[in-house]
Formats: sequence, C-alpha cells, structure tokens
Amino acid sequence: MHSIINTLHSYNRYLILAALVYVLYRSWSGWMGKKSFEKADNTASVALLGLAHLQLLLGLIQYFVTSAYTRDGMADMGAAMKNEWLRYFTVEHAFMMILAVVFIQVGRTTSKKATTDEAKHKKLAIWTTAATVLVVAALGMKGLLIGTLASATQ
Ligand code: HEM
Repeated sequence: MHSIINTLHSYNRYLILAALVYVLYRSWSGWMGKKSFEKADNTASVALLGLAHLQLLLGLIQYFVTSAYTRDGMADMGAAMKNEWLRYFTVEHAFMMILAVVFIQVGRTTSKKATTDEAKHKKLAIWTTAATVLVVAALGMKGLLIGTLASATQ
C-alpha cells in the first residue's frame, strides 16, 4: 500500500511542477501582455488545482497512515526535531506543501471571482508564483526536485 501511494505521490510531483510552470507562463504573459483570459487559461488552472488536491490527498494518507517517517516523527516530536529527515517530513514538508496547495486554491478561487481578464491573470500569476516558490523551496532543501527519496538519503 505504501509503495503504491508513495510512487503516485512521487510521480505526481513532476505533473505539478509542469502545471505550475505552464500556469505561470500563461498568467504572467496574459497579465503583462494584456491578453484576454482564454479557455486554455481556465483549463490550465483547473488542472493544476486537481493535481494539487490529488497530491494533498496522497500526502495526507502517507502522513497519517503509511509513512514510517511521520509515524516515528509523531511518536516522539522532541526526538524528531533532532533528525533531519523525520523533522522534514513531519513538519517542514507537510507545512510548506499544505500552504502551497492553499495558495493554488486561493489563486483559482480569486481568479474565478475576478470580473476583468486582467484581474483573472493577475490573481493566478501572484498566487501561483507564491505556491511555486514554496514547492521548489520545500523540494530543493532536500534535493527532491528530481529523483527519489531513496537517492536523496544515500
Ligand atoms: C505540491 C505538493 C507536494 C509535493 C510536490 C510533494 C512531493 C513529495 C516528494 C517528491 C516526496 C518523496 C517521494 C519519494 O521519492 O519517496 C514526498 C514524500 C512525502 N510527502 Fe509529499 N509532496 C507534496 C505534498 C505533501 C503533503 C500536503 C503531505 C502531507 C501533509 C505530504 C506528505 C509526504 C510524506 C509523509 C512523504 C514521505 C513518504 C515516505 O514515507 O517515504 N506531501 N513528497
């Protein structure tokens, strides 16, 4: 069970990174270039939100059910703070990634509610930038932007 969920969570990272880059490209060029908000802009932001929600669900299952890192981390938080990998998954990864998903959600919701095309692009551009910074920082701090946990811990 853990390896299936972990593999999906691991591969879905690449889809999320690709979707973040695509939404960043469309929203910043749409905002700066004063372009109209196209159907493709909407589809890209829905796809990003869907992938982020899937990642959140897979992450929460790992966090509370299948991961040995968070099981050990939550069993003794004091000791976990002294172990970089237990601290990373129990605190840093979970906190930063949940915040990133919240930013993606806020970008989508506020863009949908905006009444002009410029404002739609702007909301997506700003919130998606903030989410991307968090995701890249959280993965980058442990060398997980590319590759697997197994190779990062060797
Ligand atoms: C954009 C959001 C996220 C991305 C890009 C992401 C990415 C990753 C990556 C690349 C790994 C290492 C996979 C491996 O090679 O084994 C991982 C592991 C993990 N993630 Fe996430 N994650 C995200 C969100 C979350 C969230 C929201 C949670 C839970 C609250 C979470 C919980 C975990 C846990 C517990 C592990 C360790 C699994 C293990 O025991 O090996 N992740 N994540």
